Amino acid sequence: MGCGGSKTKNHKHLIGLLTEDDKHNLQHSWRHFTSQDVVEGGMNIFLYIFKKHPEVKQLFHFVGNGDTSESLKSNHRFRSHVGLFCETISIAVEEIRGLEYVLIFLRDLGTKHNLYGATPKYIQTAGEGITHALRKRLGNKFTSEVESSWNKFYKILAASMIKGMQGDTMTIS
Ligand code: HEM
Repeated sequence: MGCGGSKTKNHKHLIGLLTEDDKHNLQHSWRHFTSQDVVEGGMNIFLYIFKKHPEVKQLFHFVGNGDTSESLKSNHRFRSHVGLFCETISIAVEEIRGLEYVLIFLRDLGTKHNLYGATPKYIQTAGEGITHALRKRLGNKFTSEVESSWNKFYKILAASMIKGMQGDTMTIS
């Protein structure tokens, strides 16, 4: 019983670190990002991951090793994953005041990703990919304050996915 209590406190503590300014920065910047072609912008997140960890490409069995950034743009299955990824981030950003439920979904998504061969390191790199893609699209509107809000936020999302990957089906952060 004590154990469950402390786990609840743990995730509430993480969510509690997000200030009103953070929530505003996240919603405002993500709406700006998604006001243009989302899949095209989201591609940059995965191109960043592939550059840093080329072996991730092989985890997408529908992506060939020789695929270039140009050919990836027309790979329907790959575009679909970029879309799913961005949709997940959109839900988290829009539901930022009820994040507990999103974290439960992310934990389950982490369990699935374990089967897909993704590891915590790759999930963390996706966070760097988000800031890279946001900076590319938002230019000087992507300030250091906005970046710091994203770092705080993505850490919470990634923590839940990683819990699921590590087989922890009880806690949500
Ligand atoms: C960075 C490493 C990642 C890898 C290698 C990876 C790989 C995959 C693969 C192979 C699939 C199955 C796709 C298919 O069969 O068409 C998948 C599904 C999915 N991925 Fe990822 N993924 C990664 C990160 C993420 C992240 C960070 C998110 C969200 C924040 C995400 C969201 C999704 C969603 C929503 C699905 C559909 C799940 C379902 O079938 O219910 N992925 N991923």
